[in-house]
Amino acid sequence: TGSLVIAVDGTSGSGKSSTSRGVADRLGLRYLDTGAMFRAMTWWLLREGIDVRDTAAVAAAAGRPTIESGTDPLGPTITVDGTDVSVEIRADEVNAAVSPVSAVPEVRARLLDLQREAIGGGGIVVEGRDIGSVVWPQAEVKVYLSADPDARAQRRTAEQGGTDVASTQQSLLERDRIDSGRATAPLTMAEGAVHVDSTHLTLAEVIDRIVALAEARP
Ligand code: C5P
Repeated sequence: TGSLVIAVDGTSGSGKSSTSRGVADRLGLRYLDTGAMFRAMTWWLLREGIDVRDTAAVAAAAGRPTIESGTDPLGPTITVDGTDVSVEIRADEVNAAVSPVSAVPEVRARLLDLQREAIGGGGIVVEGRDIGSVVWPQAEVKVYLSADPDARAQRRTAEQGGTDVASTQQSLLERDRIDSGRATAPLTMAEGAVHVDSTHLTLAEVIDRIVALAEARP
């Protein structure tokens, strides 16, 4: 499994993070959360007071922050200019701004370089929206993870200890709409990807399926 790359793409809240971390842990691989990188960029833009709807301003600023991701599946870390922002990047303001920011080509180009650098020689599970289609189309295993909106909203709300399932669902679907509709690297099922619908599966069952796909490689 030395150079193996497993790409896990899919809709918001479909369980990509828990699944990818579980698979990486089982197979002794590293783990990269590319969504955390887009969130870190968004957090930094908001903190700098840059209008995230101003595409030109976002494009001009995209090269400024230093973003670094750890790749330990048991304790992923994300820093911006040396500050750990693992908690801050999950805030509602970031959820609301991250999809418009991620649609800006200069943001994607900047993070694409960092992502490919982190993947390096492989041995890693990478989760996102465009991993199997754009970031690493040569990945040996590609998964497209989905789940019904009700299931996704319920899980995400429970995870955050909240109660407002309807507004969580609205936020997830709005991100899906923007992520699927953008011109650059939209969310899509990559060529060669295996579709796993996790609506009626437990986390352990989803992890088992992907581990089996990795072990069944020629
Ligand atoms: O995976 P997560 O939900 O944390 O990603 C947050 C957002 O980052 C997505 O809704 C999407 O806008 C963006 N993203 C992306 N490409 C990726 C990963 C995430 O555009 N590979």
